[in-house]
Amino acid sequence: MSSLKMKYGTWALVTGASSGIGKALARRLAQQGFNVVLVARREQELGVLAKELEAQFQVDTRVVASDLSEAGAVSELYDAVSQLDIGLVIPAAGIDEMGRFLDKDYASLERMLTLNIQVPTEIAHVFGQKLATRKRAGIILVASLFGYQGIPNFAGYAASKAYILTLGETLNVELAKQGIDVLVLSPGLTDTPFSQTMDIDFGKIPMFAQQPETVAKTALAAIGHKPTVVSGLLNKIYAWENRFIPRSWPVNLFGFLINRAIKAFQSKQNAVATVAPSTR
Ligand SMILES: NC(=O)c1ccc[n+]([C@@H]2O[C@H](COP(=O)([O-])OP(=O)(O)OC[C@H]3O[C@@H](n4cnc5c(N)ncnc54)[C@H](OP(=O)(O)O)[C@@H]3O)[C@@H](O)[C@H]2O)c1
Repeated sequence: MSSLKMKYGTWALVTGASSGIGKALARRLAQQGFNVVLVARREQELGVLAKELEAQFQVDTRVVASDLSEAGAVSELYDAVSQLDIGLVIPAAGIDEMGRFLDKDYASLERMLTLNIQVPTEIAHVFGQKLATRKRAGIILVASLFGYQGIPNFAGYAASKAYILTLGETLNVELAKQGIDVLVLSPGLTDTPFSQTMDIDFGKIPMFAQQPETVAKTALAAIGHKPTVVSGLLNKIYAWENRFIPRSWPVNLFGFLINRAIKAFQSKQNAVATVAPSTR
């Protein structure tokens, strides 16, 4: 039995489990012998993953299809799994809102703030009460490298992740007395639909995309040992160097890099659009 399972078993709950980092975390936990509650909106994807995990790792699963941004969704989730002995909770579901702040539709910004801030906070609070009674439990909050500084064109997203970083760092100290290990995982660019669908040419930004499996491995190795972990060496350097320079410098640098990457994406799109008619 893995040391993680001995410490936090028998059930883990992962939101955002239908894709990307959440899915990789769910798979890795099942591999370590955890039964897993899989949460996201797309029931079919969750069902396929559940069957795969049960067959491959002989674990039990529960699927909860839920739009967590809906009012009351977290309480409903809690009620749906209240009979299970959950020892590890990972609210990984998150979305971005790329684009200039004033150009964004406020309703979509609000939806992002709900999913990225309110939902993980409520999950940590509601499930935290129960985890505290177990004495040995864990919570992994998912922030981002972009939570370490302001990022032009990702203003609300970066701010939402800065909130998660601060919340998690604080809970790491506060909940330690109740036996709950809290970790904030900050991925950098990761190869998932989240980054793949952005209108941006990440090749123009000096970053290396990691695989979600690598990010998941980093998180599960760090929980219980540190309050925060940034996945990937270069990402660690980006997060670390910010402490020694004026805060405005990296914000301006990333403003320049991201604008350039958006323009590069747009030029590629325009080139494709101009070539396409003659190739028909
Ligand atoms: N990929 C990156 O480069 C990167 C970098 C830094 C941080 N992160 C963070 O890592 C986390 C996971 O991102 P990812 O890259 O794995 O993205 P992803 O592949 O797009 O997965 C996002 C997950 O969130 C779920 N989700 C979205 N809206 C939801 C809602 N309203 N209710 C319930 N579930 C919802 C999605 O499932 P359904 O569509 O089925 O609901 C999906 O399972 C996010 O918090 C993100 O901010 C990602």
